[in-house]
Formats: sequence, C-alpha cells, structure tokens
Amino acid sequence: MTELEIAASSEVLSSQWIGFGSKVKEFEAELSKVRRLPNMTMVDSGSNALFMAVKLLDLPVGSEIILPSFTWVSCAQAVLLAGCVPIFCDVDYDSMNVRAQDIEPLITSKTGAVMVVHYAGLPVDLVPILAFGIPVIEDAAHAIASDVNGKACGTLGDIGIYSFDSVKNLAVGEGGGLVAKNVEIVERARRLRYCGIGKSGFESAATNSNGRWWEYDISEPFIKMLPTNIAAAIGLVQLDRLTALQCRREEIWNFYNSVFESADLISTPVNAPPGYTHSYFTYCIRVPKRDDLAKYLLANDVYSTLRYHPLHMNSLYQQTSKRLPNTQKLNEVALSIPLHPRMSNHEMETVAELVLAFYG
Ligand SMILES: Cc1ncc(COP(=O)(O)O)c(C=O)c1O
Repeated sequence: MTELEIAASSEVLSSQWIGFGSKVKEFEAELSKVRRLPNMTMVDSGSNALFMAVKLLDLPVGSEIILPSFTWVSCAQAVLLAGCVPIFCDVDYDSMNVRAQDIEPLITSKTGAVMVVHYAGLPVDLVPILAFGIPVIEDAAHAIASDVNGKACGTLGDIGIYSFDSVKNLAVGEGGGLVAKNVEIVERARRLRYCGIGKSGFESAATNSNGRWWEYDISEPFIKMLPTNIAAAIGLVQLDRLTALQCRREEIWNFYNSVFESADLISTPVNAPPGYTHSYFTYCIRVPKRDDLAKYLLANDVYSTLRYHPLHMNSLYQQTSKRLPNTQKLNEVALSIPLHPRMSNHEMETVAELVLAFYG
C-alpha cells in the first residue's frame, strides 16, 4: 500500500458512501477492460466467489467435482457447502498444477464439474481438460495477471474466480471477483451477491412502476457477498500499479532462479512456457530437509510457508483409500520463500544467501 491507496480510501471515507456503490462499478469496469474480462463481478472474497461459482452451475445435489488436493481449503469448502462432493486429484510434481491425466481416471457418471487452480499464477494447460466436455471452474486467485496466448486466466473455462485479499497480486484487503462466459450467469451473479435481490433502493426507484422504491423481488435464496467502495477504490489504484507490481515480482523471481540455478539440492519452480504469462504469486522451491530449512529461516527472521496443506489429509476431507503421490511428496519438500513487490534487493539477497548457506 502506498500513499495513493491511502488517499483513494480516504476519499471514499470522506464521501460518506463507504459500502457497495459507484467505486465497485468503476473497479469492475476498469479491471474488465484492462484484463479483457467479460464483465467481472466483484464480491467480498475469493472464497465466496468460489462458492457462488459452484452454485451457479446448478448441479444436482451429490454431484462430484474433481479438484486438486493441493489447494486452499475454500475450493473444497465451496464444493461441500453447495451440496456437492469433492473428488481430489493429484498434481504434476514440477508445475504443481493439475493435468488432464490426473483428472481423467476420476471422471464418473456423477461428475458435474472440474475445478482447476492456476498454482502460483502458472496457467494450467486447459485445452485437454476442456476436451472432456465437463464444466470447468478456474480458480485464478493467484493468476490475476496470467494469460494463455493473450487470453486471461479465469476466462478460459466456464466460470473463473479471482482473489483480491491482502496478500494477493492485486490487494484490496478482502475482495474477490467472478467472471463467466455466459452473460446470463454474470447477471445472475450480480443479483445473487445481494441476497438474491439484485437491486438497491435507488435502482428500484428508477424501475419500480408502482412508485414504491422500497419494494424488491427476491429471485432465489442467497447470502450477502457485497464488496465495499473502500476495497474497490484501493483496487483501482492497485490496478494502475499492477504492471509495475508484476515487474518487481518477476525481477525477484528471476533473481532467485539465477541464484539457485547451480544449487543441485534446490528445485526451482517452473517458468511459464512460450505463450503463457505467469503471475509470480509465490516462489515455491522443493528441497530436502524442508522443515529444517523453514526453521533456520525463521530463526534468521525470514518467514516461509507451504501453500497448501493437502486437503485430502485434513480430517474433514480424509479419503484414506486415496493416495496422491505427488501431492504427498510436495507436502514434505515444498516451501514458499518470500516474494512480494515491496521486498528490497537487500531482503531478496538475504533470503537467497540464507537458503544457500543452509545447504552449505
Ligand atoms: C487458490 C486459492 N483459491 C481461493 C482463495 C480464496 O480467496 P480469498 O482469500 O479472497 O477468500 C485463495 C486465497 O488464498 C487461494 O489461494
């Protein structure tokens, strides 16, 4: 956050219109234009956007949704809360992304959708996955700046979602977005996010023929997911700065790559292949003695983490019969080291030196 975000949020506070309003609409229009998205709909979190995405598919209760275990918990919670069944698949050990071959053996007559995650912002190869002819939800929470041959991640499948939470590439505090190919789905999403009402009192005033602007028509039951003008105003500034923020992420990514290239024990993350654009959300290395490295870094004031603890290993989702070898291996060796646009050169060099020092 810079003085620009501080000024933009202060301006909203001064305007006294702090909740859902014109700034949200402006952010939706701007992000849609800049990233070439079909009418991005802003909601209050990426997690809620995922839940909405599953609900928008109108799948019969008990439908199966195939998704990676190596992802954030909201993906599976959205499936379960929408009355569907999460079926966890493995990911590729190197890219940490799902592949068609991970999904195909799990397709049954009950499969209602596939949910893919562009891990760290590296686009999933969706062509063979779309060929299954099953609806695809793209979790592009890490991938707001990612493209495949000029098309934005999130717009390649049927419904896509973004996260704008405080650690994401485009950060507004808490916020999310949803895009869909089908314009009717977008219109429904915009109704649903306001408890299924869709219209504010002012909008009703303009359209209610009986003059009672306080009346509304509820089309279907839904929870409230409205974003705020404060978040949207911050988002507009972050969007202006997105290219610069991405450049800095890429610089740090390339620096780590160059330093770790010759270190045999450190496997670096996969770069974007030709035609793909990466978002560089997180720099995840794979190393022996991972836990010891994490503790060593922490003892030297460097926080590292693993995104994510595999879902099928959590008690709620334990599917004991299932082994996901790559996911389970990643759970032992993967570690995300610091990468964010405000890191100084000194900080990134310190992180790299500590990692190298640990391995002698
Ligand atoms: C892959 C993935 N999906 C969804 C989400 C949920 O986004 P939010 O934090 O905005 O609810 C996250 C957040 O970390 C995520 O990493």
